[in-house]
Amino acid sequence: MPTGCLIGDSSLNNVDFLELIAEDIEEVEELMRSRSEGYHPDLGAAMEHLLSAGGKRIRPKVALLMGKLLEADQRDLILLGASIELLHTATLVHDDLIDGSLLRRGNPTLNSDWSPAATVLTGDYIFAQAAELAAEIGSTEVMGLFAETLAVIVNGEISQLFSRKKLTSRKAYLQRIYEKTGSLFVLATKSAALLSGSAEERIQAAVVYGREIGNAFQIVDDVLDFTGTRETIGKPIGSDLRQGVLTLPTLYYLEEKPDDQVLEKVLAGHHNGADLKEVLGRIKASGVVQRSLQEARKYSHRAVRALEGFPDKSEKQALIDLAEFIVGRDI
Ligand code: IPE
Ligand code: IPE
Ligand code: MG
Ligand code: MG
Repeated sequence: MPTGCLIGDSSLNNVDFLELIAEDIEEVEELMRSRSEGYHPDLGAAMEHLLSAGGKRIRPKVALLMGKLLEADQRDLILLGASIELLHTATLVHDDLIDGSLLRRGNPTLNSDWSPAATVLTGDYIFAQAAELAAEIGSTEVMGLFAETLAVIVNGEISQLFSRKKLTSRKAYLQRIYEKTGSLFVLATKSAALLSGSAEERIQAAVVYGREIGNAFQIVDDVLDFTGTRETIGKPIGSDLRQGVLTLPTLYYLEEKPDDQVLEKVLAGHHNGADLKEVLGRIKASGVVQRSLQEARKYSHRAVRALEGFPDKSEKQALIDLAEFIVGRDI
C-alpha cells in the first residue's frame, strides 16, 4: 500500500500492513483486560476506562511484527506486547497528572476526576501488572531491560520537568525524546529479537529500528501538539507550550526569531489564552513544522535502512510501512 493512502487514516487498526497481526492484537487486548480483575474495584474500573478508550497500540504492533519476522515464540510475543502496552498506559497516567492534562484518547483523564494520590496509585498498579506479564515470559534479560527502560523513561520525564521554561539545546531535546519515547520502542524491538534467539548483529539492528521509529514518533507527536486537532489526537492542543516545554518546532522557531516577545511571555508563564493562540499561529506559519517533519523523516529512513539485512517476509514490509506511517500520521 502506498504511504500516501495512510495519511489521514483515523485509525491504525484497519490498515493493510497490520492485517498480519490482527488476531495477535486481539489476544494482547484480552490479556490486558484480564489484568483488571481481583483487586479493588476502582482499580479495575480505572483500567477498563483507560483500555476501552482505545489508543493506537503501536508498541505491541511493533513488537509483534519484529518478533514474527524473527520467528520468536507467539505466546512470548503476546505477553511482551501486553506488558509493553500496559507500561505505556501507566506512564501516560502519570504523565497526564504531571502535565495537568484533562483529556486523553478523547476521554477525561484519571487526574481530571481523581485526586493525585489515587491517580499515582493507579499508575503504580498498572506498572505492577505490566511487570508481572513481562516476568511471565521467563527471560531475565527481557525483565532486566523492562526495568531499565522504565528508569530511562522516568529520567526523560524528570529532565523535561526540570527544564520547563528553560532554553533547551537541540541535543538535549533529542536525548529527552529518546529517553521518554525511543527507549520504549527499543524495549519492543530488542526484546522481540532477544526472544527469537537472533545473533547479536541482528539484535543491534532491531535496536536501531526501534530507536529511530520511536524518536520519529515523538517528533511527530510534538508537531501534532501544534498542528493536530483535539478530535483527531484525542488530547489538548498547545499543551507543550502551555507547560513551558520546548519541543523541536519551538527550538527551530527560536533559532529564527530569538527575540519574539510573545513567545518569551508564554515561556515565562505570564500569558493569557490570546498570547498562546498568537504564538501557536506564528510557529505554525513559520515553516518550522515542515522542518521538524523533515527531521522525523530522517529518523524513519534510518529505521528502514536498519532492516536491510532482515529476511524478506511480509512482516518486514509491514515494519517499513509502519515507519512511513509514523511520519505521515495525523493521529
Ligand atoms: C502518546 O503515545 C505518548 C507519546 C509517547 C507521544 P501514543 O500516541 O502512542 O498514544 P496512544 O496509546 O495511541 O493513545
Ligand atoms: C510522552 O510525551 C511522555 C511519556 C513518556 C509518557 P508527551 O507528554 O508529549 O505525551 P502526550 O503528548 O502527553 O501524549
Ligand atoms: Mg504529556
Ligand atoms: Mg505530546
